[in-house]
Amino acid sequence: MRKLAVCGENGKQYPVFLGWDLLERDDWLEEIKFPSSFGVIVTNSRVGSLYEERVSSFFSRQGFTIQVVTIPDGEEYKNLSTVEFIYKQLLNLDLDRKSFLLALGGGVITDITGFVASTFLRGIPYFSIPTTVLAQVDSSIGGKTGVNLPQGKNLVGTFYPPAGVFIDLSFLRTLPPREYKEGLAEVAKTFFLAGGEILSLLEKREQILSREEEILEELIFQSLSLKKKIVEEDEKEKGIRSILNYGHTIGHALEKVEGYGKLRHGEAIALGMMGEAILGEKLSITPSKVVDKQREILANFHLPTQLKFKIEREEFFAALRQDKKKERGKARLVFLKDFGQPIWGVEVEEEKIGEALSYLER
Ligand SMILES: NC(=O)c1ccc[n+]([C@@H]2O[C@H](COP(=O)([O-])OP(=O)(O)OC[C@H]3O[C@@H](n4cnc5c(N)ncnc54)[C@H](O)[C@@H]3O)[C@@H](O)[C@H]2O)c1
Repeated sequence: MRKLAVCGENGKQYPVFLGWDLLERDDWLEEIKFPSSFGVIVTNSRVGSLYEERVSSFFSRQGFTIQVVTIPDGEEYKNLSTVEFIYKQLLNLDLDRKSFLLALGGGVITDITGFVASTFLRGIPYFSIPTTVLAQVDSSIGGKTGVNLPQGKNLVGTFYPPAGVFIDLSFLRTLPPREYKEGLAEVAKTFFLAGGEILSLLEKREQILSREEEILEELIFQSLSLKKKIVEEDEKEKGIRSILNYGHTIGHALEKVEGYGKLRHGEAIALGMMGEAILGEKLSITPSKVVDKQREILANFHLPTQLKFKIEREEFFAALRQDKKKERGKARLVFLKDFGQPIWGVEVEEEKIGEALSYLER
């Protein structure tokens, strides 16, 4: 088992435990301070049917009283109606401010549960039990919570770190191949930003695709460590944290145009990274060897590197304009000068982004 301590807001640390079959042992649990013995698991129908019983009996064995709130599965339910549904369920369960939530699921669940925790009764503690690669390496730490509005992704949210994160890698065994591979897009993104020796881990294609334990643990641990370093430096995204948005400006807009759910988040990010790399090349920022290497790595994981469909430009630009990172009428993008050398806050005209899209459509 490995452990990281992540520094959240106001210098308060929260622990991240990572290991195989974490919920089969309890030696790590004594390090956590739970505010009370009453907790509520928030999960979705799919993850709940697989793991709710395991998680609930794990905590019951430790003397906790555990209830469960289940929401439907899917990004389309990451919205304010679902938030209201969860509030109502929590009120029915008589939650008080010392009770805690356990977010059991992928990024949708950790985002929405974190948002509910940050606002219910003006804030109650929550712990994350992320069950997808994406949630384990990305959404579980850093404290960003939120939901989507019809106008765009994550337009309502808070910065609210969890009280602890429990990463049981064995959950990844049941993750369907498509969801597993899309998580690798966020892992690859982190490694592209880090550069150096660590990139060679991504060459172990077969071991990664067959989910070999040793390599998977290393990938997730390294990704988390890098994200920890960045979010500790800049929790509120006033500067360097925005490098984590590499691929996300174009990616989010594509995801929106395609309708949430059709193009998976990680697939949209892979396409977004390719679009932004090609744009970087056109702007003489990103060398073509970096673009080619990035394409090769993403394709190795069967992630999309080209669009299979034409994108309606007006819709795309409308989605882009909704992106909350856009300031003063221009999108601000992250580019790679090389692997390990990201630059951020580069203002780019819409029409240039449109050109990058044309290259992706070829
Ligand atoms: N807060 C952040 O910093 C941050 C960062 C990146 C992404 N996100 C958000 O994360 C979301 C995407 O997360 P995701 O890719 O985890 O999607 P997801 O939560 O929708 O999970 C993907 C699918 O896998 C299923 N699933 C989850 N764990 C499983 C398991 N162990 N076995 C079998 N099935 C399982 C889910 O039910 C779902 O159908 C997006 O909403 C994105 O905005 C947030």
